[in-house]
Amino acid sequence: MRCRKQQLPDASAILAAAGSGERLGAGEPKALVELAGRPMYEWSLDALQGAESIGGVVIAAPPGMADQILVGDERTRVVEGGGTRTESVLNALALCESELVLIHDAARPLVTSALFDQVIERVASDSSLAGAIAASAIHDTVKQVSDDGLIAATIDRSTLRAAETPQVFRTAALREAIESAGAGEATDEAMLVEAAGGSVATVESDQENFKVTTPADLERAAAIFATRP
Ligand code: CTP
Ligand code: MG
Repeated sequence: MRCRKQQLPDASAILAAAGSGERLGAGEPKALVELAGRPMYEWSLDALQGAESIGGVVIAAPPGMADQILVGDERTRVVEGGGTRTESVLNALALCESELVLIHDAARPLVTSALFDQVIERVASDSSLAGAIAASAIHDTVKQVSDDGLIAATIDRSTLRAAETPQVFRTAALREAIESAGAGEATDEAMLVEAAGGSVATVESDQENFKVTTPADLERAAAIFATRP
């Protein structure tokens, strides 16, 4: 996959859309659930296809449901995802030949093309980085608790960030990190690259890039789309 403009970094994107959406409980995979008039994955796909620095997209579809995904343009392809998030990413990664690869959750439909371009630009402009991820400040006071629920410590929240997607990596670094991690559940790709010794930067995101996990999140996302032009 190549970029549209030569001066831009060579980046492709993976849209992780293969999850079953147990906690949403909609009776169908979360990425296919209707949100503001269209399947949830289409919001992220539009933003990916609109990003200047992304040359192509690979969608990891829910197993057995690849035919239900509409790609929208010739730079977008679909693969079947797997039983874990890492398997889904690996299946899509097999089609990515670009120097950088960006991963985004279909469950974060409020993302913008601008945020995709920012995280890609962050890695492309600093050769010491293996990756960069969107992350947001934490506004609540955060407590560490023991098994019985008693507070053990108050954590200095100024040093904490909530990790989000998009997450972008040098493709070779991501492949190596996944290989050396082996089997097991990873909730994001940055933790694998960190564990392999890679340096990963954060890019400040806004609170609208939240993940749709529960029915209340779906309602909140629909309310925000209703206010967007
Ligand atoms: N994902 C994936 N393949 C999997 C599991 C998750 O591509 N085997 C994707 C989901 O589609 C989602 C993102 O990873 O876009 C974040 O995962 P999560 O919010 O946990 O979604 P689900 O796993 O679908 O939801 P749940 O955990 O409630 O079942
Ligand atoms: Mg999950």
